[in-house]
Amino acid sequence: AAGGDDTRGGAAILSERGLPVVGVPKTIDNDLSGTDYTFGYDTAVNVAMDAIDRVHTTAESHNRVMVVEVMGRHSGWIAVGAGMAAGADYILIPEFPAEIQEVCASIQKRHARGKDFSIVVVAEGAKVKFARTEADTDEGLILQTKETDAFGHLRLGGIGKVLADEIEDITGFETRFVILGHIQRGGSPTAFDRVLGTRLGAYAVDMLERGEYGDMAALQGNRMVHVPLTEASARTKTVGPELYEIAATFFD
Ligand code: F6P
Repeated sequence: AAGGDDTRGGAAILSERGLPVVGVPKTIDNDLSGTDYTFGYDTAVNVAMDAIDRVHTTAESHNRVMVVEVMGRHSGWIAVGAGMAAGADYILIPEFPAEIQEVCASIQKRHARGKDFSIVVVAEGAKVKFARTEADTDEGLILQTKETDAFGHLRLGGIGKVLADEIEDITGFETRFVILGHIQRGGSPTAFDRVLGTRLGAYAVDMLERGEYGDMAALQGNRMVHVPLTEASARTKTVGPELYEIAATFFD
């Protein structure tokens, strides 16, 4: 069973009912515990980084603030990876809630130093306390729709527009937004993801031959290991303070 947390949860149930199944961690969100990386993540980060590099050109030429919304569900791995790689001036992720005033103050400081453009990368699940926009959920999320998906997940999406509108409203700087959406989930995989997918697939077949059912193949360091599906699907792997603090060095 190759997939993210929903697939893993389903595979764990099948395994408990006696089906000989092993899991392979595949999701662009990189939010599966038990593995350092899921394949799809590196490709999504490179797609988003390339898009942010392109947005950087038009932000600079038009002296604008450009907001780029990326996927990642309730984790900020894509935003922090692509944002750092593309030199974003601010990165907003679910793990570290923010207030619109602090984002605007950072942009205003940059502009006061003569930088008349800024790039803000925001994860779709980021929690921002806005000035005049009510969030769609108590914890501050912006939703595409109130409908949930087949697995009961909230349908995230749209925070990029809300953020852009409020930045322009508060700072007076011309601001535009881009929602990258599903282009982050397609196209030709990067070399890293191709090799990781190959290693995980080969290891998963060996697990089946060894009868290691009910586990997931995983990358820890540079080693292939196997972890119980239940442990792995138990909690979302989130971005920690160490990585985010390095990214935040560049916010002021
Ligand atoms: O889990 C992968 C993912 O792309 C998330 O980043 C995103 O929130 C969700 O799937 C979108 O789901 P759907 O394609 O069903 O709209």
